[in-house]
Amino acid sequence: MSDFDLVIRGGTVVTAADTVRADVGIRSGRIAAVADRLEDGAARVDASGLLVMPGGIDSHVHLAQPAFGGPAMADGFETGTRSAIAGGNTTVIPFALQPRGASLRASVADYHKEADGRSYCDYGFHLIISDPTASVLGQELPALVDDGYTSFKVFMTYDDLVLNDRQLLEVFDCARGCGALVMVHCEGYDAIRFMTERLEQAGRKAPYYHAVSRPESVEREATHRAISHAELTDVPVMIVHVSGREPMEQIRWAQRKGLKVYGETCPQYIALTADDLKGLNMDETGGKYVCSPPPRDHASWEAIWEGIRTGVFQTFSSDHCPFYYEGEQGKLNPKARTSFRWVPNGIPGVETRLPILYSKGVVEGRISLNEFVALTSTNHAKMYGLYPRKGSIAPGFDADLVLWDPNRKETIRQELMHHGADYTPYEGMAVTGWPVATYLRGMLVAEEGRIVGEPGDGGFLKRGLSPYAVPAHGREI
Ligand code: URP
Ligand code: ZN
Ligand code: ZN
Ligand code: ZN
Repeated sequence: MSDFDLVIRGGTVVTAADTVRADVGIRSGRIAAVADRLEDGAARVDASGLLVMPGGIDSHVHLAQPAFGGPAMADGFETGTRSAIAGGNTTVIPFALQPRGASLRASVADYHKEADGRSYCDYGFHLIISDPTASVLGQELPALVDDGYTSFKVFMTYDDLVLNDRQLLEVFDCARGCGALVMVHCEGYDAIRFMTERLEQAGRKAPYYHAVSRPESVEREATHRAISHAELTDVPVMIVHVSGREPMEQIRWAQRKGLKVYGETCPQYIALTADDLKGLNMDETGGKYVCSPPPRDHASWEAIWEGIRTGVFQTFSSDHCPFYYEGEQGKLNPKARTSFRWVPNGIPGVETRLPILYSKGVVEGRISLNEFVALTSTNHAKMYGLYPRKGSIAPGFDADLVLWDPNRKETIRQELMHHGADYTPYEGMAVTGWPVATYLRGMLVAEEGRIVGEPGDGGFLKRGLSPYAVPAHGREI
């Protein structure tokens, strides 16, 4: 007998680079060996017929964010990370949001109170900057970056979060100095407000008009503006949750120009359309699908696939941002029934991200297995300073693994989900490929839809600087 704690035997090991039939030996929570045939360890798992892949890393999830006067989120860290591991993920990177007027450091401490001891998987935090004061930019951010919060998110819309162009430039400039990577939510605030008021005046208040209020041109314009500001400040940026052709082409244009502009897309942009927001008959059931940017149409799905296949997008994240559907706290709360403006933005998806991409991507022949792993795990680790600890299967990496049945057919249904929300926007969707078991640092945490891990198994990840955040060249000022 060897000195492995666990040997996963007979599976097909898939990384971003290779697909090989191999055994995986695990010792002290890390991968100790990957080889054709390993001796048994203290324990053995038979993975024949299964794929053994790096656990999913979802670098865009929202958990336990404050309500801002609207409904509370349906997931805190316990239910959100429970849902994550059931869906084959082992790391999530949610956001620590700075409310206006608050210190970022204090906001980060608040999120740690929510997360520490309650998480089923490992986690880091991106910092949402809503109030870039001189002390935030000059003192708080550099110190937080040193402490492992090495990425920021900024918003070009939302009343409570929007930054003006000057503020965006200041944050970009600060990120450059700290070596942080900036994620940008690209939708133009004034255009959305204009459209929202006009639609309301015309009596068009059903959830569907959320999509009408923020068409692709609004996203394209903001994407271009963010890219221009990034060029001016010579700072790399990640354009998140890209919904269709127009913003995708802006990113591609910037990449071809040699700018360090990266892209993220999400399941809703290859699986939902704006028509879903119409509900049954332009009724409030459309509220289930309200998220920003909104899902578009079938031609947009094809444009997103084009961006995935040609490397415009590096990461495929869920943008899990769950709200209840029913009840006073739900998407359908009394205020939300008066106008789409008040329907909370966001949908659950951390548990369904892998099956949706696997099914539509790998099974339907659009991407390879290795691209699947890159898009769901490896590239997230590299982009956000977790590599080479997370995101691959090789000696020294954390033994974060998902055992995947490539042939399992499932129909996505709320009753299968482990999230806090009372619905899934993907209800009824047939998929092929499903997680069978999830291992966090060598511990079995989820198996066949059962949670066997515990809150507190997951720990905080102090992330390194992103190698993607290095500026392209020197600057005169
Ligand atoms: O609708 C969405 N996506 N809500 C989450 C917040 C964000 O912008 O990512
Ligand atoms: Zn620093
Ligand atoms: Zn966003
Ligand atoms: Zn988001």
